[in-house]
Amino acid sequence: MSEHLTVVEHPLVQHKLTLMRDKATSTSEFRRLLHEITQLLAYEITRELPVTTTKVETPLEVIDAPKLAGKKLALVSILRAGNGMLDGVLDLVPSARVGFVGLYRDEETLKPVKYYFKVPDALEERMVIAVDPMLATGNSSVAAIDMLKEAGAKNIRFLCLLAAPEGVARMKEAHPDVPIVTASLDRQLNEKGYILPGLGDAGDRMFGTK
Ligand code: URA
Repeated sequence: MSEHLTVVEHPLVQHKLTLMRDKATSTSEFRRLLHEITQLLAYEITRELPVTTTKVETPLEVIDAPKLAGKKLALVSILRAGNGMLDGVLDLVPSARVGFVGLYRDEETLKPVKYYFKVPDALEERMVIAVDPMLATGNSSVAAIDMLKEAGAKNIRFLCLLAAPEGVARMKEAHPDVPIVTASLDRQLNEKGYILPGLGDAGDRMFGTK
């Protein structure tokens, strides 16, 4: 993937995103839409999965046909909102291995602190897709990618629903080798770190918390 940022302009993605932005959309509908959009974004972000060929006998001939090669994809959810994107990717790549990164923000240093980290083995041999619906300041995304690289990951992609220009710039500075796929590059962050126009707190909206 040569572009650092890919915005998926597909009409189905954009239509579903509009429904998700609407504050009147219910929790169950929001979750269902996130699942559906993630399937479409997953199609885009897996374009460069390595392929090899295998002999297959059709009813008419034997051919060399493409199939996925190498170690299984590693899908890593950045807790907690990333969990809302897991099943959409797993629908397309059911054999993917799944990991989790949990971070909280230290109130004094304001730096992200790791509280949970469990990822598949042999990360260095896998394509790794980190998922988090909102790329806002980029602080947690950059920290999560730092940890994945420390764990050996070399071929990492970042999948989000919405991105703020500030977060994209921060990721580009810290991890220029990590392509980002998103449904929208929104306008800006507000003073509380929310994306504008955005859709609010993605975790609260998908889990029905406040
Ligand atoms: N996280 C969210 O859930 N929403 C935002 O707008 C920014 C960060």
